[in-house]
Amino acid sequence: MSGSVRCLVAGNWKMNGVLEEARSFVSELGNNPAPERVEVALMPPFTLLQALAEPLRQKGVSLGAQNVYYEPKGAFTGSISPMMLRDCGCVYVIIGHSERRDIIGERDEQIRKKMRAAWSAGLEPILCIGEHLEERENGQTNNVLKKQLAILEGGIPEAASLTIAYEPVWAIGTGKTATPEQVEETHAFIHEELQRLGRDCRVLYGGSVNPGNAAALMKTPGVNGALVGGASLKADSFMAIVAAAAEAN
Ligand code: PGA
Repeated sequence: MSGSVRCLVAGNWKMNGVLEEARSFVSELGNNPAPERVEVALMPPFTLLQALAEPLRQKGVSLGAQNVYYEPKGAFTGSISPMMLRDCGCVYVIIGHSERRDIIGERDEQIRKKMRAAWSAGLEPILCIGEHLEERENGQTNNVLKKQLAILEGGIPEAASLTIAYEPVWAIGTGKTATPEQVEETHAFIHEELQRLGRDCRVLYGGSVNPGNAAALMKTPGVNGALVGGASLKADSFMAIVAAAAEAN
């Protein structure tokens, strides 16, 4: 990726947040110091998308969802379609987060369908990939990532936008982050693999990113932003990570 790519700092609220908390969060959000170099996005739960769309737009923050179903409409009780997300003002959708893979049992085939469906509706998927600790310890990291990225084989549509989030599962919500060396090496592999599949794109790092480690992570070669869980729940820590990304880019 060229150095001129606009990086992305995205907050994944997971199953957190009710309306009152969300409103105070938005009112406390400071200014993005470098909107031309850093894009800020927030992925609250579905229940907050409508309410946050306009206030976030006014703050220059893009809206995204944490999941989507791959059918356009119909008898799929409890599911949300890509067009419904567009209708709420979403531009992004997280697909294949490890919590959905490991807790809900989502498989690559469903993830592949979700990617296609998101693209057809004009959403930009943030495809999450990452290895478990045992896989890293057994030297399997690259094989696991290659397999997860293989769902892109057969082509990324010409006009489609794509962001990848590399999130080592052992670093999510654990307070452990991958070292900058591990991140550099792994992001280089992912960029290479994306090129082989036809198109390189932004690769975010995710997994216990916080204001203390963001500067080093955001400066690491091959890192084009962050997917932030826990530290995105408070406006000040989230904006501190945005500031670190602005500094590094
Ligand atoms: P974390 O979550 O920052 O709380 O580790 C990141 C993620 O799961 O996207």
